[in-house]
Amino acid sequence: MRFEVALAAVLAPFTVTAQLNDLAVRAGLKYFGTALGESAVNNDANYKRIVTNKSEFGQLVAENGQKWESTEPSRGSFNYASGDITANTAKASGQGIRCHTLVWHSQLPNWVSSGSWTKDTLTSVIDTHMSNVMGHYKGQCYAWDVVNEAINDDGTWRDSVFYRVFGTDFLPLSFKLAKKYDTNAKLYYNDYNLEYNGAKTNRAVEVVNIIQAAGAPIDGVGFQGHLIVGSTPSRANLATTLRRFTALGVEVAYTELDIRHSSMPPSSAAQVTQGNDYANVVGSCLDVAGCVGVTVWGFTDKYSWVPGTFNGAGDALIYDTNYNKKAAWTSVSSVLAAKATGAPPAGGSSTTLATVTKTSAAPAVTSTAAGSGPEQVRWGQCGGNGYTGPTKCQSPYTCTYSNPWYSQCL
Ligand SMILES: *[C@@H]1O[C@H](CO)[C@@H](O)[C@H](O)[C@H]1NC(C)=O
Repeated sequence: MRFEVALAAVLAPFTVTAQLNDLAVRAGLKYFGTALGESAVNNDANYKRIVTNKSEFGQLVAENGQKWESTEPSRGSFNYASGDITANTAKASGQGIRCHTLVWHSQLPNWVSSGSWTKDTLTSVIDTHMSNVMGHYKGQCYAWDVVNEAINDDGTWRDSVFYRVFGTDFLPLSFKLAKKYDTNAKLYYNDYNLEYNGAKTNRAVEVVNIIQAAGAPIDGVGFQGHLIVGSTPSRANLATTLRRFTALGVEVAYTELDIRHSSMPPSSAAQVTQGNDYANVVGSCLDVAGCVGVTVWGFTDKYSWVPGTFNGAGDALIYDTNYNKKAAWTSVSSVLAAKATGAPPAGGSSTTLATVTKTSAAPAVTSTAAGSGPEQVRWGQCGGNGYTGPTKCQSPYTCTYSNPWYSQCL
């Protein structure tokens, strides 16, 4: 969003639309981002139009293109065709990228996972991989996921070629090597199911301790955020868990957020729950100094890894298969807007959701034309503090309360 500051002041209130990255930045985060599906962006114009909108997504991450099997499918043979789709798309749209991932047991070519290595030879393999891949993207990555998913769900160390050869020494080793090749990228440990603050989370704290004790650099911990509707922890509990890591001097981020329905199709009530779960996750990041941003693992239910991976589950994202914004989108937008405008976190005085005044300290509350407009379409907002648009929904949809900031036609 470009505007002339002095002129905007004269013409105040200048407003921005409630796009997620614009709101996130205004709310104090560095970005709101999404994974980019390499094939979708090349083949679907609607997908491309939204994924390249910097107001919506300030940062992209390659869903697959930078993984080891893509970048070094055979030893010493490097290929950036897929990874560059994301890097080039972001560059053309003025967006940043997160880079994902270097040392991971999955989507790892056989020549690595089945090789018979000594510590020296495997160190050399990792070093060469990082030197090339990090060198290729040097200066472009806000962060690199240096090590991904080293822990099992029960908190034990994951069996991988890296753990078998080095034990936990592969953790500091990987971070030390990574630092050589892109000194400016934030170096992250990234994993899933850390959100529940159980044995796996305890072990992830140990990961940071091990890396720091070895004198290796670690800048961040990524909470993947592959969650389940109705089983997502509360905003307060999520914030408590994030703070266990920021207390160690590292930043945190949600790096692969999606919240899946475990039975399909979801009811209206389940969609409201999904919206509230999304609000809790994003809200917890807003509540923790040192939580820098949120990345969703794709944005449309048209393309998602979820149905192919979790039998019977689906609709985990914030746009539906036809690119309509879901309750989850509205929910995220609302919680970001509440922080961006300095409104109270729940209830209380009215605030605006549709617009944010681009003025200083005490943002004005703006309102749009009153009351009895046309009936609202499916997914549209139909109520909430400060909301003055249509309050009736087109048939067969019902205006459904989600939280004090919005109700939505579901
Ligand atoms: C991004 O999307 C918003 C909402 O649809 C739109 O107003 C804005 O013009 C878009 N920006 C670009 C650069 O296309």
